[in-house]
Amino acid sequence: MTQVLFVTAECAPFIKAGGLGDVAASLPGAIRNCNVRVLMPYYSCLHDDRADFRFFAAFYVDFEGGHRRVRIYHGELDGVSYYLLQAPDYFTCNTPYEGDCGVETRRFAFFACALMAVMPALGYQPDIIHLNDWHTGPIAAMIYYRRMHDSFFAKMRTVFTIHNLRYQGVCDRNYMQYCTRLPDEVFNSGGMAWYDWTANPMRCGLYYADRITTVSERYAEEIQQPEFGEGLDSLLRDRREVVSGIINGLDYKVFSPETDRYLNVHYSAETVREGKAYYKERLQQEFNLPVDKGAFLAASISRLTDQKGIDLIAQTAERLISRGAQIVITGDGDGDHTRIVDDLGRRFPGRIAAYPVFNESFSRTLYAAADALLMPSRFEPCGLSQLIAMRYGSVPVVRRTGGLRDTVLPYGENTGLGFVFDDYTPDAFDQAFAEAERLYHQDRRAWDALVQRDMHADFSWDASARRYEALYNALVAEAAQAQTGGL
Ligand code: GLC
Repeated sequence: MTQVLFVTAECAPFIKAGGLGDVAASLPGAIRNCNVRVLMPYYSCLHDDRADFRFFAAFYVDFEGGHRRVRIYHGELDGVSYYLLQAPDYFTCNTPYEGDCGVETRRFAFFACALMAVMPALGYQPDIIHLNDWHTGPIAAMIYYRRMHDSFFAKMRTVFTIHNLRYQGVCDRNYMQYCTRLPDEVFNSGGMAWYDWTANPMRCGLYYADRITTVSERYAEEIQQPEFGEGLDSLLRDRREVVSGIINGLDYKVFSPETDRYLNVHYSAETVREGKAYYKERLQQEFNLPVDKGAFLAASISRLTDQKGIDLIAQTAERLISRGAQIVITGDGDGDHTRIVDDLGRRFPGRIAAYPVFNESFSRTLYAAADALLMPSRFEPCGLSQLIAMRYGSVPVVRRTGGLRDTVLPYGENTGLGFVFDDYTPDAFDQAFAEAERLYHQDRRAWDALVQRDMHADFSWDASARRYEALYNALVAEAAQAQTGGL
């Protein structure tokens, strides 16, 4: 059976900053026909109470001119094996991403070097190293060079998945080379080369990986165009033969209103009206919104960043609530966007509730309470909130981009899953919102049927997991062929 090592900077429920954490938590378990193990740093801020992590082995890594000791811990959760690398000098932190590129460069370069040392130390020889986002980019180059002259690595192949092309980890070139000790050519003309004497680890991953995937088919096309390519579109066009889009799935064991561990009252497609009425009232009371079960309640649940269209919500807010809607906005993010959200709450009390922190439990309650979920993203590689929302019977109102376009088919009589708009403008967004609101108030039957379609839509991992398996196995066959000289 094909052996896959899934390498990630975050993984729920141990540590999660965004969608990557959810994908890392659910994709490995959905792969049935290959053996997948997950490897990640053992951050000091990681929640390790859900799996019983036990010391497994210790080894040394050459880094920053000395031998650094690394301890590896092993644990299992829901049938998936996790390996955590512990090295206090590098992984002591309050969050995996400090927002300081020097710290992050050092942390993830160390992680890469440790990964390269741990495999021979354990005699563990995966066929596929599945890398995720820029944090793991240097590893693609390390495998590429190492396998040329080290038979232990000769058959290993890399898959690099882009969860978000915007974050590239760009940093000082000399420092990156000092940390990774990759050859000069990698920095001068190869994968790390970037403007103004910087290094770009995302580009490095895309340059050296054997296959590139991203998390929806539409985003796979979009990133090959300058508008969405974040400066890497020409490289992605050059490599288009190895680029593909595989839509993310949802783990319905975790995200389902029938079993959600954060909900005290559960509901199903049959009882959705009562379930939602209960949570709506609770939320309205909690946030001083007028208690009115007929009010159209829209939610925004996302990281508060430029990507997610928070500015569009702000520009449109007055119009959205002018017809009686209530809006609740939650999620954490950067200072500017947190201020925008806070400000909305202050300007429109009793209409807009702002709760700009990320709280898993609250967000689940909000999915349950809301009639609609707003996702006017500028770009969206896949998007998970719209998938969760549909399962909880909240109708998505989304911009037609990336994974939102692939998952939210526009509403039509007896078809479609949500309300969709194209232009990134207040008018276009307001129109889609108004269309949703109108259906909710004026044709409750059609609205309820739409909610039923959303709740029954299948966005589980099954089909996508089979596609990853096919990709892994194709690469293994290719590697075997290369070994026998293509005979
Ligand atoms: C990132 C993207 C999001 C995607 C997630 C998981 O957070 O912004 O669209 O769903 O990664 O792949």
